[in-house]
Amino acid sequence: MHIRRPIIIANWKLNGGIDLLCSSVVSFIRKHYEAEIVVCPPYIYIRDMLNFLQHSEIRIGSQNVSKFESGAFTGETSAQMLKEAGCKYCLIGHSERRSMFRENNASCQIKVQRALNTGLTPVLCIGENSEERENQITRDVLTRQLAEGLEGLDLKNKSLCIAYEPVWAIGTGKAASPEIAQEVHQFIRQELIALYGADTAEKIRLLYGGSVNKTNAKELLSQPDIDGLLVGGASLDPEHFVNICQQASVQAETQLVTGV
Ligand code: 13P
Repeated sequence: MHIRRPIIIANWKLNGGIDLLCSSVVSFIRKHYEAEIVVCPPYIYIRDMLNFLQHSEIRIGSQNVSKFESGAFTGETSAQMLKEAGCKYCLIGHSERRSMFRENNASCQIKVQRALNTGLTPVLCIGENSEERENQITRDVLTRQLAEGLEGLDLKNKSLCIAYEPVWAIGTGKAASPEIAQEVHQFIRQELIALYGADTAEKIRLLYGGSVNKTNAKELLSQPDIDGLLVGGASLDPEHFVNICQQASVQAETQLVTGV
């Protein structure tokens, strides 16, 4: 069985400012984490974060990427530019982008392709809204988001993460229970196995996101198919976020010892 290193990603969304940047840097610096830690600040802070954290193990990701390579696309930032700036990861298809900026599975597929071609690790975000859950079509929604968002892509030996973020759990304080999250993650893993075969699917890390905090992180992370967490609000408090990172590191150490 393939061991997947736990990963914690902070999504700052449109928050921050130089104060958050500085206090985060102070919290992170000179700390060692067995888990992989990634911060996705607004674009404008990516370079600053990289400069300040260059001697740390913290990786930087972007919250979005353009589906275009270059040209007259005002306001866009390409995968190549993000790679050159020093990003390792990029979030794609976050529910806020889908609901407020009209992103769809087809545009996500192009973005995932761009990221993979450039050597960025895409974190494709999927998840059902509350109405879809109530109507018991969660699995249909996820199947479609995966099939269309990854359509035609060759994932062999490529680095990719999938973040399951149920829309009803984002920013509501109502996280999915570990049981529900595990059940869905297991389903996502099965879908990936059906699409890409066990060898490739076992290497894809699956993250849970939606009202993660330092109280629920441990139990979520201890589920067999949850390999990491995508953290919004709780990542804006550096002490709180570092606590989650430390819990993930304990999980990573346990994996190293037990091999699972
Ligand atoms: P919250 O952790 O604030 O619910 O946000 C989750 C999220 O959208 C992370 O991408």
